[in-house]
Amino acid sequence: MTMTGTIIVTGASRGIGAAIALSLAEQGYTVACLSRKGELPSVPGAATASLGRCVAFAADVTHSGSLRDTFAKVAQLGLPIVGLVNNAGIHLEGPSDTFAQSDYDTVFATNATSVFVSCQHIYPHLVAAGGGLIVNIGSFFDKLGVKRNLAYCASKAAVGAITRCLAVEWAGKGIRVMDVAPGYITTDLNRSVMEAGPLRAYLEKRIPGREPGTSDDVARLVRGLFLIDSAFLSGETIYIDGAQGIAH
Ligand SMILES: NC(=O)c1ccc[n+]([C@@H]2O[C@H](COP(=O)([O-])OP(=O)(O)OC[C@H]3O[C@@H](n4cnc5c(N)ncnc54)[C@H](OP(=O)(O)O)[C@@H]3O)[C@@H](O)[C@H]2O)c1
Repeated sequence: MTMTGTIIVTGASRGIGAAIALSLAEQGYTVACLSRKGELPSVPGAATASLGRCVAFAADVTHSGSLRDTFAKVAQLGLPIVGLVNNAGIHLEGPSDTFAQSDYDTVFATNATSVFVSCQHIYPHLVAAGGGLIVNIGSFFDKLGVKRNLAYCASKAAVGAITRCLAVEWAGKGIRVMDVAPGYITTDLNRSVMEAGPLRAYLEKRIPGREPGTSDDVARLVRGLFLIDSAFLSGETIYIDGAQGIAH
């Protein structure tokens, strides 16, 4: 099934966002790939045909004006905007008793406030298209108490709350909102610590299947959500963590 229309993916230059962008492009969508550097998705061995349906834009998700102006440029591509994937995020950690408030603010601005703001800016475009799907990328840390990770955990819990509120408020406009919450996912940036050393040994004990996930695992789920044409599926957080979050 080939799909038409444009989907905007934030943080699409590398990691999970790049895999999501290419997977949606493979399905036939035009994909607007946002990142601060404005680079096309970098995935070794990616099919040229998929990359051909990707258009890169430089935008900082922590700047409301940058998002608004970029969405307007994306609309000028001439296709209806049918979806948004809020994937851009950062991870800063440290002991809570000394964690700088400026770092807390940076984590919230990038991981949570940006989701609210970009949803506001996409709203008129989705209403004009007769509805659409917003997928927010959260984390299974949203329901865990993780040492040194207060800001990250709280920001991802906020993503789940934003998802639920908007799903309820915008259902009447044909807009679905979902939260995809990954567990440990190997990307090019974290490959060395995920594949060897103490974190690897910990994950082998904690993940029931003994392996972290891949960016493609998350990308397939996000693509699936765009393919499921059910207005009744909205507001939920779907965990994709190899059952780590529910394991005893
Ligand atoms: N990897 C994991 O194990 C894991 C697990 C659970 C959840 N997640 C979530 O999944 C998402 C992607 O993670 P990842 O590991 O793929 O991250 P990553 O490899 O660090 O990539 C982050 C992407 O976001 C962009 N970005 C960062 N800050 C931005 C900003 N202010 N404005 C616009 N773009 C920005 C980066 O490009 P520029 O630097 O050019 O801006 C890059 O394209 C995040 O929300 C993360 O919290 C990841």
